[in-house]
Amino acid sequence: MLPPIVTTIADVRAAVDAARAAQKPIAFVPTMGALHEGHAALVRAARGFVVVSIFVNPTQFGPKEDFAKYPRTIEADQKLCGEAGASLIFAPGVEEMYPTNSVTFVDVAKLGDHLCGAARPGHFRGVCTVVLKLFNIVRPDVAHFGAKDYQQARIIAQMVRDLNVPVEVRVEPTIREADGLALSSRNRYLSADERAVAPRIYQMLQATRVRAAAGEIDAARLESALAADLATIPGARVDYARVVDAETLQPLARLDRPAVAAVAVFLGTTRLIDNLVLA
Ligand code: PAJ
Repeated sequence: MLPPIVTTIADVRAAVDAARAAQKPIAFVPTMGALHEGHAALVRAARGFVVVSIFVNPTQFGPKEDFAKYPRTIEADQKLCGEAGASLIFAPGVEEMYPTNSVTFVDVAKLGDHLCGAARPGHFRGVCTVVLKLFNIVRPDVAHFGAKDYQQARIIAQMVRDLNVPVEVRVEPTIREADGLALSSRNRYLSADERAVAPRIYQMLQATRVRAAAGEIDAARLESALAADLATIPGARVDYARVVDAETLQPLARLDRPAVAAVAVFLGTTRLIDNLVLA
């Protein structure tokens, strides 16, 4: 069944209020659309009345980024949401989400400063602002995020804790193609040649995990080996290759606590991110 699409805050609130009155837990999956199996997995993990938002959020894109050309595929998205069991789609326009006189933003210090935050100034401020607004609009009991965007999920969990937002944040595993490439709405930008080499990013993250498991505990050495591996991918430009504290995302000298290897790599003009927790 195709879930209905509503575009106004009033309509989504009315639908959520009705579901809550019927004793249904409210689950929420925020997305920017161009949905794929990674998003579908979040919807399938959700229970109760499942709201999916589809909003390409202008405040999280830099001036030179792909906001204008970000894929918009609402009909296919609606079908995928239906198959995955969503109850309602909230697809507001920019004016609904950002009336012209809106001047308040949410900044999560430190966690957002490096990794993707360094390369994309203001990105996480835009993400946190829109996610908090969406939380306040939908008022879900549980919200589902993907581990693919590890830093984003950590930052949102921190925001929820710091601002006492009454929502439980759940992080679901990264869904990958059979060859290991993490699913992403941006994979469709890849040329055939770029697509052919893209799975090597994940292979190199796995190699990092193998090195760590074999006893390499020096984070800087793991990072330089990973960066050197990534640089061998034809046409690749490494934005960052870091091994950081899995909780705080801060740099760490030795792997004496849970760590995550996180990378961003340009293949041509397409920026791909991936990560792997090092056990
Ligand atoms: P978007 O890139 O559409 O992703 C929506 C959600 O899907 C995020 O939680 C993301 O981590 C998850 N996701 C994407 N690819 C995945 C994969 N391969 N496996 C598992 N989960 C995956 O992230 C955003 O949108 C935006 O920043 C948003 C949070 C909606 C705020 O605008």
